[in-house]
Amino acid sequence: MLFPVTEVRSLFPALNQSDNGHARVYLDNPAGTQVPSSVAQAVADYMLTDASNMGGHFTTSLNTDALVLKAHEDAALFLGAKSAAEVIIGQSMTSLTFHLSRSICRDFQPGDEIVISRVEHEGNVGPWLEIAKDMGLNIRWVEFDRDSWLIEPDALAAVLSEKTRLVCLNFASNMTGSINDISALTRIAQDAGALVFVDAVQLAPHHLVDVQALGCDFLACSSYKFFGPHLGLLWGKEEVLAALHPYKGRCVSDALPERFETGTPQFELLAGLSATVKYFENMGQRGSSSENRRDLISAAYKMSRDYEEPLTNTLIDGLNQIRGISIFGITNPNRVHQRVPTVSIRHDNKAPSEIAQSLADAGIFVWHGHNYAYEPTRFLGIPEDEGVVRIGLAHYNTEAEVARVVQAIDMATANNN
Ligand SMILES: Cc1ncc(COP(=O)(O)O)c(C=O)c1O
Repeated sequence: MLFPVTEVRSLFPALNQSDNGHARVYLDNPAGTQVPSSVAQAVADYMLTDASNMGGHFTTSLNTDALVLKAHEDAALFLGAKSAAEVIIGQSMTSLTFHLSRSICRDFQPGDEIVISRVEHEGNVGPWLEIAKDMGLNIRWVEFDRDSWLIEPDALAAVLSEKTRLVCLNFASNMTGSINDISALTRIAQDAGALVFVDAVQLAPHHLVDVQALGCDFLACSSYKFFGPHLGLLWGKEEVLAALHPYKGRCVSDALPERFETGTPQFELLAGLSATVKYFENMGQRGSSSENRRDLISAAYKMSRDYEEPLTNTLIDGLNQIRGISIFGITNPNRVHQRVPTVSIRHDNKAPSEIAQSLADAGIFVWHGHNYAYEPTRFLGIPEDEGVVRIGLAHYNTEAEVARVVQAIDMATANNN
């Protein structure tokens, strides 16, 4: 089944906007995608007709209780979790990771080690550096390979020791786009007795997450990166979460996931989260006749991936034709399945900020800078202030948009060769 890009685009009002005569091209997706009307409508509907708090006997409160349960069930289905109890939902991946880091590391001893991969976004670095400072833990880094652009299993094995308590891994990089082999890396870390915390924020917009198949202990992602509202999701194995000490108010339930969800939830955004999962299910109905909701989500991802991979190769090929451009990530078209469609570039003579400005002037939205991929940027010797120009596709982008960005970069850099 071909990906119905025209129909998909019609679901996203933002995609039809233009500025100063330029139709907008959204290639800023790794920092957050646009949302379909159904998601925005679900948020608005809750706020306009059902707004309440939980635990009352009256209609809006009962509806809110049901909505919260459904959002967790939908998120569990989306991630392949065993149950809704395993999914903690909160403000963002970063704030959830800071919050859980205190519980995860509570029983670690001074001198114990946390291993962090060098390709992480700061959301999977900062929380561990801070708790390490507080508790006298040591941080060890596992570098990514500059040729394969991956965290190699041997490199991970080499930094593990009997003191390693936790390994923090990036599933897909927000800079290089590389997809790491999380199952293989998890096995190595767990064999050494460590817990594994995975950042799947950049994978989830492009590939189906299956936490049970991966075998890791924790996995975090953010629904605003996959066509949903501004929320973070943190999944943990039920038995691991249940064994942790929760930092919570005394009268808050000790049940999962409430024991880790502090304060009043963002109910309207939870309504949007359920609508986001439904968006994938509806799309999947075009590629599968199954009645199983997870199968439908999986079918949606397959169609989306089959569409995105050739588009990614077209983008990389176009960029490679431009004199003076370097790409920081996998460029071999036969390895496109090992990367998400996030492509970071630099030009020999033109600064990323200037390229991003030229593109913005032409209605093409991209990011420049380190984009919080602070460690990989520094590891690659790239000046942090300017960083890279990052072009990130989502499944609503088209061949014509890819041609437009390539042409615009060519023009922006033409006089600088
Ligand atoms: C790979 C990666 N991890 C973590 C984050 C942080 O996510 P959040 O904004 O939900 O804290 C981002 C955000 O861009 C990201 O790209």
